[in-house]
Amino acid sequence: MQRAAARVLRGARTPQVLNSSVRTPPVRTPPVRSPPVRARSAPADTAPLGLLYERHGEPAAVVQLKDLEEPKLGDCDVHVKMLAAPINPADINMIQGTYPLLSPLPAVGGNEGVGEVLEVGRRVAALKPGDWVIPADAGLGDSIIQNAANSGVGQAVIQIARASGIKSINVVRNRPDLPKLVERLMALGADHVITEEMLRKPEMKDIFKSIPRPKLALNCVGGKSTTEMLRHLQPKGTMVTYGGMAKQPVMVPVSAFIFRDVRLRGFWMTQWRKEHAQDQESVAAMMEALCQLIRRGQLTAPACTELPLQHYRAALQDCMKPFVSSKQILLL
Ligand SMILES: NC(=O)c1ccc[n+]([C@@H]2O[C@H](COP(=O)([O-])OP(=O)(O)OC[C@H]3O[C@@H](n4cnc5c(N)ncnc54)[C@H](OP(=O)(O)O)[C@@H]3O)[C@@H](O)[C@H]2O)c1
Repeated sequence: MQRAAARVLRGARTPQVLNSSVRTPPVRTPPVRSPPVRARSAPADTAPLGLLYERHGEPAAVVQLKDLEEPKLGDCDVHVKMLAAPINPADINMIQGTYPLLSPLPAVGGNEGVGEVLEVGRRVAALKPGDWVIPADAGLGDSIIQNAANSGVGQAVIQIARASGIKSINVVRNRPDLPKLVERLMALGADHVITEEMLRKPEMKDIFKSIPRPKLALNCVGGKSTTEMLRHLQPKGTMVTYGGMAKQPVMVPVSAFIFRDVRLRGFWMTQWRKEHAQDQESVAAMMEALCQLIRRGQLTAPACTELPLQHYRAALQDCMKPFVSSKQILLL
């Protein structure tokens, strides 16, 4: 997306304070890594471009790079030029038309990214041209278990768990370069990295000799992986489903409900934000806690492949291939 309205943005004065909310004063600590983009804004007088889709379908087939009409700047609006934007699974599902939240067509793809403020309306005081912004709408126990552990979310979980002193058991799909992936996730702070097949093996017991069984399982996959993961939860443990990458239902043995009283919950960030819209204090506190981890170098972004916007078709195809382990980031 090339331009966006002010109210959906969190402001930042410089890349160093990129994730600071406009409500909390920016903390001027040194950046923990360099800014996520190499390209800065295009000249302000060039026509805005956007990845537009007019119907739902296969992303590489229905998405087209098109000139966008420049919206008129209202008094409370902010014109933002997006600098870089990742392609996430939810973006793909929105283009395919299978996501529970769909934009009216024609729509511009993408929900996350970093942008630069080009112009602000007369009544906007919190932001000024040159600021960098990101979209605003962008009792755990001793151990956790999660699948799709090498996803962007999974890697964040590994790092947050490590920083919180929680042991993590991380399930990934088997692949030709498994040892390399295991090494990478261990270096991020994973305590155990295992394959979906390993979940079914008796050797799993060995893991629980040194760490307690988890109270929390995070499920991003569905299908068999989920059923097997659930077996390792503590009695009365909770499994939170936040993704369904295998596109298969969650199957739970009856015995898990009756004899181990497991609890199943869902989580959707969009809904969580709506429910916490009146509770900006705790949202800001959570963002601040995450920013602290980033500043201390304890929370880093997943590996990325940066591509110019014109290569969007290749990026859309690559992000749907298995074992890519790199976020496709379009530079706008
Ligand atoms: N509920 C929410 O609020 C919320 C918020 C953000 C994200 N999500 C969801 O979280 C998930 C991860 O998002 P992300 O941005 O972190 O994704 P990502 O970095 O693109 O990673 C996708 C992951 O899915 C795995 N995967 C793909 N197909 C699979 C299959 N058939 N079986 C098992 N694993 C499979 C990939 O594993 P390989 O490396 O083996 O290919 C990879 O680990 C997505 O489902 C997304 O929709 C939910």
